[in-house]
Amino acid sequence: MSQQRPVLELENVSVAYDSDKGPVQAVNRVNLTLYPEEIVGLVGESGSGKSTLAYAIMRLLKGSAYLAEGTIRVMGQNVYNLSKKELRQFRWSQMAMVFQSAMSALNPVMTVEEQIIDTLRTHRRDMSLSQARKRAEELLNLVSIDLKHLRSFPHQLSGGMRQRVVIAIAIALDPAFVIMDEPTTALDVVVQRSILDQIQEIQRYVHFAILFISHDFSLVAELASRVAIMYAGRLVEVTNSGRLQLLENHHPYTEGLLRAIPKLTADEVTIEGIPGYPPDLVDLPTGCAFHPRCPRVFADCMTDRPELYQIEDGLVECHLFKGAKEVHYV
Ligand SMILES: Nc1ncnc2c1ncn2[C@@H]1O[C@H](COP(=O)(O)OP(=O)(O)O)[C@@H](O)[C@H]1O
Ligand SMILES: [Mg+2]
Repeated sequence: MSQQRPVLELENVSVAYDSDKGPVQAVNRVNLTLYPEEIVGLVGESGSGKSTLAYAIMRLLKGSAYLAEGTIRVMGQNVYNLSKKELRQFRWSQMAMVFQSAMSALNPVMTVEEQIIDTLRTHRRDMSLSQARKRAEELLNLVSIDLKHLRSFPHQLSGGMRQRVVIAIAIALDPAFVIMDEPTTALDVVVQRSILDQIQEIQRYVHFAILFISHDFSLVAELASRVAIMYAGRLVEVTNSGRLQLLENHHPYTEGLLRAIPKLTADEVTIEGIPGYPPDLVDLPTGCAFHPRCPRVFADCMTDRPELYQIEDGLVECHLFKGAKEVHYV
């Protein structure tokens, strides 16, 4: 897999927000690579920086947020070197995002068909109206929505159907990858299941990669082939999902999450086995950000940020793995 050209490369990516108390380090030197057709999960407690990273990749950071350091490449192209005009063409045709709330992603006064056609023709100026109509039908078929809903407005659809429309729009221009930021969190469990099945089904026909963001560890472990675990803005571990069967030889935070899996539900996360709370991002603990909560903390953890170590084909940012092969990015 690593022989293929990556669709997404994150190199030492840091994102900060300005706040009254100083810079909020929401994303902290993140390294991650996504290969074609791969589903990679990004998990972490609420506030760990998942959405901020997603917005940074799309170059959609808002307000006081800014890319503080690092490089983001999509299909080899540095996203932050594109002009505004180039970026408009690049977004949705190379990289797309499904936001958590389908309602806010859709235009309430446009029909489903109009929205799909609008996205297509904004990016493909050479596409005729009849070609765009045909493509809109194909896309609705792909997400299993009856074609009668081409004429429906968003409020006439159920929550699950709206999220399917949003997914259809995201893949309309054949992007290399789609970021899905908690795409099913707002939906009930049954609808959530059918959307996840649908995503896997679509992926058999259309070969895009997915960065699937969720706070639900069990869901991500099932869907993704690799999982990245985020804590206080840092990727503390990247592992094959197969290795998550093992409760040991992980970052202590991952081990805590694994032990807590039966306690995770869609709208409430209780992490038993990990006492304490995630740190204040304005005032991160020295050394390893997890050290105040870590059951295996020792002196180095309080003073030095750990290196990334290679464990089998994954990466762990933890002093316990000292002695394993270190991995350095530029
Ligand atoms: N507009 C903002 N201004 C300041 N801080 C923000 C802003 N948006 C998010 N944050 C902070 O950034 C951190 C990461 O947020 P977010 O990326 O939304 O996390 P997640 O998606 O993992 O729940 C949080 O601590 C949050 O308080
Ligand atoms: Mg989020």
